[in-house]
Amino acid sequence: MRRKSAEALRKTIARAGMLDKSHMIVDDDDEVVIPVLSMPPADLLRDHFAMAVERDFPTREAMRDPIDDIRDRAAIPEDLKHLLPDKWEMFGDVAIIKLDPRLDGYEREIAEAYASVLGLKAVLKDLLGISGQFRTPTTKVLVGTDTVATHIENGVKYRFDAENIMFSSGNVEERIRMAGVKCDGEFIVDMFAGIGYFSLPLAVYQKPSKIVACEINPVAHRYLVENVRLNHVEKLIEPILGDNRDLAGKNLADRVIMGYVKTTHEFLPVAMRLLKDGGIVHYHETCPNELLPLRPIQRIVDHLHGGRAEILRFKVVKSYAPGVSHVVIDARIFKPS
Ligand SMILES: C[S@@+](CC[C@H](N)C(=O)[O-])C[C@H]1O[C@@H](n2cnc3c(N)ncnc32)[C@H](O)[C@@H]1O
Repeated sequence: MRRKSAEALRKTIARAGMLDKSHMIVDDDDEVVIPVLSMPPADLLRDHFAMAVERDFPTREAMRDPIDDIRDRAAIPEDLKHLLPDKWEMFGDVAIIKLDPRLDGYEREIAEAYASVLGLKAVLKDLLGISGQFRTPTTKVLVGTDTVATHIENGVKYRFDAENIMFSSGNVEERIRMAGVKCDGEFIVDMFAGIGYFSLPLAVYQKPSKIVACEINPVAHRYLVENVRLNHVEKLIEPILGDNRDLAGKNLADRVIMGYVKTTHEFLPVAMRLLKDGGIVHYHETCPNELLPLRPIQRIVDHLHGGRAEILRFKVVKSYAPGVSHVVIDARIFKPS
C-alpha cells in the first residue's frame, strides 16, 4: 500500500478491531504492509489504494504497549493506575485524553507521563466534547503551552489549535473518500470548510477548477488559509471568511459539500441555490437510527421544489451518540425546468 494512505488505513482497521496487534507492521522503502485478523472490505482497500497480500510478519513479543509504560511512569497511587485511559486522540505531538473523575487530583502527573512516553509537547483534557455553531471543543491544557498541532493524515497536512478547534478522528474514512472523488474541472463550494477537512483532500488528490471554502469562525478560517499554503493548493482553494448563507450567486456549483451536523437541513436552501442543474450535494446530518435512511433523503426531497434528486450513495460516517448516527448522502440534483 502506498505510504501516504497507510496510517489512515491502519487507524480504520484498528477501530474496526481487525488489526493484528501481535504482529508488527512491515515498512519497506516503498510499501507499508499491515497485519490483519480478517480481510478488510474491498472498498476500504480500494479507497486507500491498498491490496491484500499473503505474507509472514515479525511478531511483536518484544514490543511493549505504551499504556504499560505510561502506567509505570505516572506518579499516582498504584490503585488508580487501572483508570488511566488506554486510548487517546493524538494529533502530531499534541494529545487529548479523557480522564475518569477519580483521577482529578493527579491531572498534571498523568499528563506528564503521557507526554514523556508519547513524546508530546502538549496534553489536553477533553472536558465537554464539541459544541456550538463553531463546533468548538471544550478542553483544559494539562501540560505544555503550545497546543497547535500539525496532523498528517492520508498525506494531507492539517494544522490547527487543538485547544479550540475540533478534528474528528471518526470522520477519517469520509475525509479519505473525498480524496478519491473524481471532480476534474469542477467548481466546488465547501459550505462548512472548517480548517479544510474535506477541501484539502479534494484539492491535494483531484483536479477541480476551484473550491470555494467558506468558514464562519475566524480562528478556523485562519488555519484554513494556513493549511491551503502548507499543502500547496493556493491555486485550487479560495478560503472565504463568512456565513455561507451570504455566498452570492446561483446555479454555479458542480458540487456542494455540507460537512455539518445537527442543523444541516436548514442550509439546504443555500446549497440548492448554489448547485447547477445536475450538480452533486454531499449532505451530512445526524439522525436517530430508526429514522434512517429516509429522513435525510426526505429532507433533500423537501427542498427540490419540483426538481428531482438521484440518490447516489448513503453512508453511515460514524456513531454520533447512542442511537444516533452521523450519515452522508450523495445526491445529484436536477433543478425544476
Ligand atoms: C467543524 S466543521 C464539521 C466537521 C467536519 N465535517 C469534519 O469532517 O470533521 C463545521 C464548520 O462549519 C462552520 N460553520 C458553521 N456554520 C457556518 C456557516 N453558516 N457558514 C460557514 N461556516 C459555518 C463551523 O465554524 C465549523 O468550523
